[in-house]
Amino acid sequence: MAHLLEVKNLRTYFHTEAGLVKAVDGVSFHLDEREIIGVVGESGCGKSVSQLSMLQLIPTPPGEIVSGEVLFEEANLLDYRQNSPQLRAIRGGKIGFIFQEPMTSLNPVLTVTRQITEVLELHLKMEKHAAQSRALELLKLVGIPDAARRMNDYPHQFSGGMRQRVMIAMALSCNPKVLIADEPTTAVDVTIQAQLLEVMKEMVERFRSSLVIVTHNLGLVARYVQRIYVMYAGRVVESGTVKEIFGDRRHPYTIGLLKSVPRLDQTKSERLVPIEGLPPNQMNMPPNCAFLPRCPYRIARCEREAWPILRPAGGKHFVACHVDVDVKERARETARS
Ligand SMILES: Nc1ncnc2c1ncn2[C@@H]1O[C@H](COP(=O)(O)OP(=O)(O)O)[C@@H](O)[C@H]1O
Ligand SMILES: [Mg+2]
Repeated sequence: MAHLLEVKNLRTYFHTEAGLVKAVDGVSFHLDEREIIGVVGESGCGKSVSQLSMLQLIPTPPGEIVSGEVLFEEANLLDYRQNSPQLRAIRGGKIGFIFQEPMTSLNPVLTVTRQITEVLELHLKMEKHAAQSRALELLKLVGIPDAARRMNDYPHQFSGGMRQRVMIAMALSCNPKVLIADEPTTAVDVTIQAQLLEVMKEMVERFRSSLVIVTHNLGLVARYVQRIYVMYAGRVVESGTVKEIFGDRRHPYTIGLLKSVPRLDQTKSERLVPIEGLPPNQMNMPPNCAFLPRCPYRIARCEREAWPILRPAGGKHFVACHVDVDVKERARETARS
């Protein structure tokens, strides 16, 4: 069966004065009906650019979508012009976006209700009163306390976490098929991060939507997603179900990533071990594996050969690595998790 959304071999480059930045370099992923997936990786690995490219929301220039297909409802969204009516109807309509920083996406001079009713009037052609009661209902659903009294407040009158909830309400107002949440939780503390993910999960279940959670924190998403894509330097290096990724992680980068982030399921205070070194300069990518300089498992073959392509590792599991990471090491990791 066709996927709800499928991205094939997406490449998005930026032409900067300093050189060509290959921000996304051959990424493929898919999302099924009512599925929740996570897209994870360190800052700068191309998470946001890959999501924004789907709806042609990157600035062009300097950005350029060099190749790829974004298949959604029998169309390739990359065939549309950037400002075409088709694409504008899909953005915020069938595909909703929650951005990293709510103050940049919420309009400071409009009340929270007005932000939501604007979307409803634009996309669903709702009339004012119906839109207002729908807005109130949404604010209640996302857990704004005392919503009826607060509906005419302005964004700055809300705390960071509450503003994020308003963003969630706004993004869900048109009952989108797909909701993309791009690090919606980085500005707030861990407990509130978890609460927000909980609200999003509840909401997409209620609305029968699908959700993409974009985050640098692999530990945080385990509880909320069904499948995970791990990105490194503009590519997907490992993907699979939560069970496959947490229980049988294969890519040295994924292994390192899990050791480096706090996890919700950690009871005892385990020491966090950062991955040493830095991601490669995306302007000057090595011909071989881009993780090589940081990889504790590297072998001679990794030096010689080109960046490994993703290959099946059983079930829904795919890994791009030449090394079959030492089985003992993996077993030890699994026992810890
Ligand atoms: N407008 C832009 N101009 C030039 N480079 C950009 C632009 N936007 C993003 N990039 C570069 O693309 C790469 C991927 O960025 P991004 O997708 O935002 O990373 P992430 O969301 O994973 O933190 C980074 O190297 C970033 O510097
Ligand atoms: Mg980002």
